[in-house]
Amino acid sequence: MNDVSVRVATEADRQQLEQLIADCYEEIYPNWYGDEMIYSSLTHVLRLDPLLLQDGHYFAAQVDGELAGCGGWGRAANGPNADNGSLGHLRHFATHPNFMRRGVGAVILEKCVAAAKADGISALHCFSSVASERFYLNHGFTKVQDVSVMLGGDEPFPAILMERKLG
Ligand SMILES: CC(C)(COP(=O)(O)OP(=O)(O)OC[C@H]1O[C@@H](n2cnc3c(N)ncnc32)[C@H](O)[C@@H]1OP(=O)(O)O)[C@@H](O)C(=O)NCCC(=O)NCCS
Repeated sequence: MNDVSVRVATEADRQQLEQLIADCYEEIYPNWYGDEMIYSSLTHVLRLDPLLLQDGHYFAAQVDGELAGCGGWGRAANGPNADNGSLGHLRHFATHPNFMRRGVGAVILEKCVAAAKADGISALHCFSSVASERFYLNHGFTKVQDVSVMLGGDEPFPAILMERKLG
């Protein structure tokens, strides 16, 4: 495997990262979701949350000097499923089609886990796409339940709520 290096992403990376995420979805999602859903996820999910970039919670991975993947985490908003602020949520994970299945996603995920633990987070949740369920299962997550996420369009996005306890 090529060496994967990971750094904190900043607002200056936004355009490149959003393009990478779009390239990823266009490659992966046609096998799992219909055209309308892909259009909806591309148009509504694709704006990276500025808070992730401001807080230093979003990571960019490079392989051989090229941007290869990204992903991050944030504190879950307080709500019925929140655990007094100790619950984190993985956000916007994507690997560029040219770099898939080379460990990029795993490296970013473990970076998020370490950072979240250091910040006092006791469990991480994510809304996994149907396409990524296996990836999260292979990395210590368990399925909580199927969910429908409203991304901003009319149709709900079928996803899976996954959880990993951070010991
Ligand atoms: C989920 C995702 C980020 C994983 O990215 P990735 O960089 O390909 O992840 P990894 O390489 O760490 O692991 C993926 C697979 O490659 C395998 N792999 C890792 N390194 C490898 C290597 N050097 N050689 C061969 N296979 C390897 C892993 O074992 C894993 O295999 P499995 O899933 O068949 O068990 C990526 O598939 C993706 O972008 N999906 C679409 C977007 C998406 O759904 N994002 C999540 C929204 S919540």
